[in-house]
Amino acid sequence: MTRRGLFITFEGSDGSGKSTQMKLLVERLKMLGLPVTENQEPGGTQIGRQIRRIMLDPAHEEMSPMTELLLMFASRAQAAAEIIVPALERGEIVVSDRFTDSTLAYQGEARGLGFETVLQAHRLALGSLLPDLTVCINIDVEAGLARAHERNSEDESEARLDRQRLDFHHRVSAGYRRIAQREPGRFRLVDGAGSREEVAERVWAEISPLLSERA
Ligand code: TYD
Repeated sequence: MTRRGLFITFEGSDGSGKSTQMKLLVERLKMLGLPVTENQEPGGTQIGRQIRRIMLDPAHEEMSPMTELLLMFASRAQAAAEIIVPALERGEIVVSDRFTDSTLAYQGEARGLGFETVLQAHRLALGSLLPDLTVCINIDVEAGLARAHERNSEDESEARLDRQRLDFHHRVSAGYRRIAQREPGRFRLVDGAGSREEVAERVWAEISPLLSERA
């Protein structure tokens, strides 16, 4: 089957505002009368939502990076089969909240599995399915975490956890920057500072040339 649609993904570390920006883009595309299908990872399908629950359950804190990686790709393979590929074949615009770049940044870089391991799993689970364009909302790590966990604790163990989190998110951010260096054409870092509307305009500036090309 030939692929006629357009595949756009959103990336960013926790608290970057990527999900809000994705919603704004989807609304804008729909206003233009374009056919849009949404996906979320992990999640998107019923099977994916079960996997998301396993992944985010605090009781599973000991989950190994490799288990995380395989769960992410299990969810993603299902989303590809059920949602992404059929919509692309119908010629629709598929917009996904996170995709393989998240696994590169979180499991590959931050949890230390390396890019090559993640890309191997991608090839096994998804073959050559890749986004046409990825928008990565780039914000200051500290500001993002403050936004994500609006909480202030003087408890020492909490402070230690926060430092670990900070370290982790610096590594996630470094992972995204590395992808941007490897694939500047597909993977666009968009400045997430400023109002929702300002950021939405920056996102639109990345997306609209692709739509004109397609028209
Ligand atoms: P998400 O619900 O998108 O969280 P947020 O609202 O912070 O964007 O993702 C849940 C968590 O799962 C998030 O911390 C990132 C992580 N994750 C990975 O570690 N690897 C992956 O491949 C994906 C898709 C998400």
